[in-house]
Amino acid sequence: MTVLRPIPRPGVLDIEAYVPGKSTAPGVAKVFKLSSNETPLGPSPKAIAAYKAWADHLEDYPDGSANELREAIGRAFGLDPERIVCGAGSDDLLHLLAHAYLVDGDEAIHTRHGFLIYPIVTLGAGGRPVETPEIEFTADVDTILAAVTKRTKIVFLANPNNPTGTCLPFDEVKRLHRGLPGNVLLVLDAAYADYVRGNDYEAGIELVATSDNVVMCRTFSKIHGLAALRLGWMSAPAPIVDAINRIRGPFNVTGPAIAAGVAAIEDVEHQERSREHNTRWLGWLAAEIGKLGLKVTPSVANFLLIHFPETKGRTAADADAFLTPRGLILRQTTAYKLPNALRMTVGTEEANRLVVAALKEFLAKPT
Ligand SMILES: Cc1ncc(COP(=O)(O)O)c(C=O)c1O
Repeated sequence: MTVLRPIPRPGVLDIEAYVPGKSTAPGVAKVFKLSSNETPLGPSPKAIAAYKAWADHLEDYPDGSANELREAIGRAFGLDPERIVCGAGSDDLLHLLAHAYLVDGDEAIHTRHGFLIYPIVTLGAGGRPVETPEIEFTADVDTILAAVTKRTKIVFLANPNNPTGTCLPFDEVKRLHRGLPGNVLLVLDAAYADYVRGNDYEAGIELVATSDNVVMCRTFSKIHGLAALRLGWMSAPAPIVDAINRIRGPFNVTGPAIAAGVAAIEDVEHQERSREHNTRWLGWLAAEIGKLGLKVTPSVANFLLIHFPETKGRTAADADAFLTPRGLILRQTTAYKLPNALRMTVGTEEANRLVVAALKEFLAKPT
């Protein structure tokens, strides 16, 4: 007799489940978690206060349309709140976009070392992930455009990209957009936009405003230091906002997250402090790690990709094994097809100095 059992849709079991960065080092008292790109400064004290104030009425459902937060984001970025949707982290929004715009067998393009969630949301929605090569760990517009077929429905571009820290200048993003058919959705994932200092960069606000097929996703997990609350947002043309609002959970963002998000986005000084800390230590780390003889991919975000030699005893896995017992937790990037690299989040001054000192010791020890 055949035993019947529930079967997930095709693609689901092809997903390599996302493995988050490590957060503990067994037996180590003081751990510096530099594996998930959280800000070392933590959230704005005003965001913490707003979060705590919610503890007195946890019995209430949140405002399902997150009005107050969408208005605060609108004020901060000069956007129409009607063109904003909030999500439980930007991951939530990436899933929703894939579910709304992919039909079985449709293709979604992502770049070789692009953020891991893109193939996951694509397969989860029954689509087919299509990977395109990068040049110098950077997305390449020509190969993305060359990969577009009749089945292509989404192009996911993390700009800046995680885990490489590289980004495309606005001219290149515009060229990519110009080359895409109007029915292909361009998702500009600008999770790290707040850290970018270059004049030739634009997160996506202008393209969203002037086209019908571009979405920009942002997160409160990085510069705002609210990763634990799961809060993100996207801005998009009205028909896309309408589609996502139809399928999202009616209360996909919690009340404490909305309150903390409003306070965080209004605390511009705190954001500036985070940005300044990052600019200073990103440059310092790149220079100091470079001096040790390790190759570092130039980054515009709040993390660095460090490449290790192939020599036995000096590889990324060896470095990770050396750093972890010292409480220095970096991100392994094998799942990102970068088996001999580690990604390091810019940390506190103490953490940054400890990593450089430990890497120096690691490279000096006999193999
Ligand atoms: C490029 C990129 N997009 C999106 C996210 C997801 O952020 P969230 O915490 O808002 O889900 C991350 C988090 O690491 C990221 O690196």
